[in-house]
Amino acid sequence: MLNKRMVKALNMQINNELYSAYLYLSMSAHSTFIGMKGFANWFMVQYQEEMTHAMKIYDYINDQGGQVKLMAVAEPPAEFGSPLDMFEKTLKHERFITKCINDLVDLAVKEKDHATNIFLQWFVTEQIEEEANDNDIISKLKLVGKEGNGLFMIDKELAARVFTPPAPSKESQA
Ligand code: FEO
Repeated sequence: MLNKRMVKALNMQINNELYSAYLYLSMSAHSTFIGMKGFANWFMVQYQEEMTHAMKIYDYINDQGGQVKLMAVAEPPAEFGSPLDMFEKTLKHERFITKCINDLVDLAVKEKDHATNIFLQWFVTEQIEEEANDNDIISKLKLVGKEGNGLFMIDKELAARVFTPPAPSKESQA
């Protein structure tokens, strides 16, 4: 059973994850527009991942007898500049999401909500991976600069990313 403060905070995080999905979908569209199909693929996979994050929280609230409340999703930017600009904006956004997850964990601890604390640990680990991936790609992009061949190689590498749905959480399997 979730208390009201926790439900409100989790509903806010559904909105944050949906905005993340929307932001990366917009970055995918921008990548296609500038002719970088590999980048477009990477951001499309990221969009799909963010939708699963939103749905994971949606399922958790339902499983715990809380009421899901969907809110308006803000309009993301449509212009992002170079691939490096896009990934720097991605990292900045993911750091914001990490802070949101940490705040949720703090609230779960404060409210002595052990189930939600355990549920959120998946997101804590996921954020480490998300920030590491972004940092890795930013390093490569800085290394090649505006050099066409290098960008072409990175675009090719990002074209290989495939969406893998996360394993269902225990509470959804029961
Ligand atoms: Fe769902 Fe990229 O954090």
